[in-house]
Amino acid sequence: MGKILRVGVIGCGAIAQRRHLPEYQARNDVEIVAVCDFSEERAQLVKEKFGAKYAITKTEELLALNEIDAVSICTPNQFHASVSIQAMKAGKHVLCEKPMATMIEEAREMVKTAEENRVFLMVGHNQRFMPVHIRAKQILQQGALGKVLTFSTTFGHSGPENWSVDGAKSWFFNKDQAFVGAMGDLGIHKADLIAWLIDDPIAEVTALYGTLHKEIPIDDNAIFLLKSKGGSIGTLTASWTYYPNEVNSTVLHCEKGTMKIGTDPQYGIVVEYADGKIEHIETEKMQSNEEGGQTNSGVIDHFVEGILSGKGHEINGMEGLRALEVILAGMEAAASSQIRQLHIG
Ligand SMILES: NC(=O)c1ccc[n+]([C@@H]2O[C@H](COP(=O)([O-])OP(=O)(O)OC[C@H]3O[C@@H](n4cnc5c(N)ncnc54)[C@H](O)[C@@H]3O)[C@@H](O)[C@H]2O)c1
Repeated sequence: MGKILRVGVIGCGAIAQRRHLPEYQARNDVEIVAVCDFSEERAQLVKEKFGAKYAITKTEELLALNEIDAVSICTPNQFHASVSIQAMKAGKHVLCEKPMATMIEEAREMVKTAEENRVFLMVGHNQRFMPVHIRAKQILQQGALGKVLTFSTTFGHSGPENWSVDGAKSWFFNKDQAFVGAMGDLGIHKADLIAWLIDDPIAEVTALYGTLHKEIPIDDNAIFLLKSKGGSIGTLTASWTYYPNEVNSTVLHCEKGTMKIGTDPQYGIVVEYADGKIEHIETEKMQSNEEGGQTNSGVIDHFVEGILSGKGHEINGMEGLRALEVILAGMEAAASSQIRQLHIG
């Protein structure tokens, strides 16, 4: 028997039950030691369902367990930074859900705490692990399409009331706990994806956002204009009012053609070359809030394998920090109707 990673999961809602816990459970090198939720009943149910040893209601009690090596943080956004920092100071590796923090200072503190305590910090940006996006990036890197000139990337669904374990009473609609609406919930996924896909960090951001349909104190729609360091420009759209069907797509217009991801009902990718040639590429369907063909997000596997091998790459929190910067810059720009410059290394 090889090494075993002993994990705890904090927050036992939808993302914990649908992705983190089943994906930990599917691995034979992971033991689910404890689960924690404010709601004792929910913690107990989840403990039974996933065969954990303990059901706990206080985060500190879970973090005090020496028999835990790593934790998933699946709480509302407001608690991500404080719980992650506490966990890393207790020597635990952290897989934190997105957005990793509500302020950039908190995100920097998280990255610093990971370094100081020599633990891995990963943020749950699952779009870059989707087979369709991995294939799309390979095609771009092969170079036949040339440079990406413009892009549009969109993630929208009918809202978290159809996802969260607490439905319409969800924390997603509580400004203190969520701090941001669709732009932070869905937009942040595409902020991470687009920079990774075109291999070029976002350098300029402006945005408009609004609460157009739901009676909530945060945005239900947002549209960003982005410019990459290398000069590509494009839009990022996030919505909680796409009824009834989810949209999860990206279109890249390049020097020698166009790549469409997630726009065709049958093919994951369609590439249309400038000379008229069309290529249809079949990939696993995207894993999304709706049922998709992809059964494993790849996030948990990457986290576990990175820790157990000691070689975890891309898991130092920096990718999560960059995506958060884009969202925060968009919020500031939308509030002040200005274009914001980002400082990128
Ligand atoms: N990566 C993704 O694709 C993805 C998808 C959905 C949600 N998320 C993220 O996952 C996180 C959780 O979202 P969700 O959809 O599971 O929400 P949810 O409403 O379904 O569940 C949240 C759970 O956390 C519990 N909780 C609240 N505060 C807590 C605390 N301090 N300690 C312990 N438990 C606490 C609640 O009782 C509830 O059971 C959010 O940050 C969200 O942005 C990520």
